[in-house]
Amino acid sequence: MTFTPYDRPVRAAFVGLGRIYDLNMRGYVNNPDVEVVALVDPSEERRAQRQADWPDARTFATAAELAASDVEVDAVEALLPIPLHVEGVIELLGYGWHVNLQKPMCNDVASAQRMIDAAQANDRVLRVMENYLFYEPLRKLKETVESGVLGEVSGYHMKMVGSGRGGWDVPASSYGPQVEQAKRGRGVLVFDDGWHKLATALWLFGPLSEVRAWVGSTEVVPGFEIDAPTTILWQHENGIRGVWDITLAVDMYLRSDYYTNDERWEVTGRRGYARVNRCTGRGIQQPSLEVYADGEMRSQHALDDDWASSFRDSGKHWLRWLHTGEGPLLWSAEEAVDVLRFALAVYESSAAGGTGVNPAGIT
Ligand SMILES: NC(=O)c1ccc[n+]([C@@H]2O[C@H](COP(=O)([O-])OP(=O)(O)OC[C@H]3O[C@@H](n4cnc5c(N)ncnc54)[C@H](O)[C@@H]3O)[C@@H](O)[C@H]2O)c1
Repeated sequence: MTFTPYDRPVRAAFVGLGRIYDLNMRGYVNNPDVEVVALVDPSEERRAQRQADWPDARTFATAAELAASDVEVDAVEALLPIPLHVEGVIELLGYGWHVNLQKPMCNDVASAQRMIDAAQANDRVLRVMENYLFYEPLRKLKETVESGVLGEVSGYHMKMVGSGRGGWDVPASSYGPQVEQAKRGRGVLVFDDGWHKLATALWLFGPLSEVRAWVGSTEVVPGFEIDAPTTILWQHENGIRGVWDITLAVDMYLRSDYYTNDERWEVTGRRGYARVNRCTGRGIQQPSLEVYADGEMRSQHALDDDWASSFRDSGKHWLRWLHTGEGPLLWSAEEAVDVLRFALAVYESSAAGGTGVNPAGIT
């Protein structure tokens, strides 16, 4: 891939103007690295609603109409329903546009390879954005680990509770693709939201040697099951072990400006530990990062711990990257495939009764 940064603002289009557009667009607001030139969505209502944000952008019902128009586009923000990711991304790359895709990239390695092949064939960049890597408390957690203040790392623990009450309104239409995904064995907690959590493990501690899992299921409404309780364990090649437990609290109210996930991340070292207390929701109302070492607790009270800021900063990073080539991409399509292999190893292990699976062997 022979990418040359642009010597002018990037001309960008949003393709998909649904729920997550509200957060994704934040990286584009007042950003000199970009000019938003087009908005694409089959819903006339969505186009009219989002036009208010970008009065100068042209609107289109399909990407094909945009491609056939006289509007010139360099890069697109692909905010498509998950079942459309593979064919949608291949189409967008085929028009000669760089693509910033949402997670989960796709459901299997063969589809991921088709997407990567399309990027290579068109000499375009495919990024699979990972906003959690831009969440300031998690960035500080990584810095803390790397500073050595915790001593040698002994283990990593994540916890997530999916709650059924609170948060922002999610249109019923946004759930359709989730139901489809669940029927294909790609559940909303392990695979969809879980994609982010698995990504943090790879980002912090590198490649894996083994994954073990016990994926459960709870029927929340007739015909729709959520993939909890679930427990996932793994070992990195450097010997560090991780564990992630996912539980469901259907009737629990959780204060949140977004989805109702109560999340924590904790790294334990030989001398202390560091914990991120929350992210998407506002569960634990303590400072978002606490670091304990040598009998002393240090609390971070002034981090930007609004989950939406992670979208803003991930978007800005992508546009800066296109404009200047300043890396790393966070994530490249190849790095996203490592996250996919991690998730697929979870399913393979669980189906085999919790045996150890090396994600590198997943085809
Ligand atoms: N990073 C995160 O934390 C996060 C959170 C939520 C959703 N997402 C991801 O964002 C993506 C979109 O999710 P959402 O919740 O906004 O879904 P949504 O259903 O609310 O929005 C999708 C939009 O795409 C439009 N659309 C459908 N087909 C299209 C097509 N062919 N061309 C253009 N537009 C089309 C729909 O009309 C809709 O407006 C998914 O990939 C999802 O996994 C990421």
